[in-house]
Amino acid sequence: MSDLFRFGVSLEKGLLDRFDRLIKERNYTNRSEALRDLIRQELVKKQWQRGGEIAGAIAFIYNHHQRELLNKITDVQHNFQKVIISTQHIHLDHNNCLEIIALRGNPKVAQKLTDSLKSIKGVKHATLSMSSTGKDID
Ligand code: NI
Repeated sequence: MSDLFRFGVSLEKGLLDRFDRLIKERNYTNRSEALRDLIRQELVKKQWQRGGEIAGAIAFIYNHHQRELLNKITDVQHNFQKVIISTQHIHLDHNNCLEIIALRGNPKVAQKLTDSLKSIKGVKHATLSMSSTGKDID
């Protein structure tokens, strides 16, 4: 772990009370850890805005009975193979499949891949969860 520094923070009583309630709800054991996470959250957001490298996952649901759907999904993924690390396919029930794509790369490309999958007829829902590669946030 890197060197720890202490610094004082001045807050209005009401704001501090709300902060304490929030961190209790989120199961933080102390203010320092909650504050570290808030700072990291902002640093990661900045990385996304700058177009730095992100790590994340796309989860999407589709009906595999839809004609040509699997071919289209495969075509899109081959076009974005530069950012795709791995994919996992889960047969949810007789009709529905869940696919999870792990990715690393430019946030705009990650969003474009998500939009491309979403726009395929038969894809019912897709979410992109962007995180950090873990660099430059500690
Ligand atoms: Ni399936």
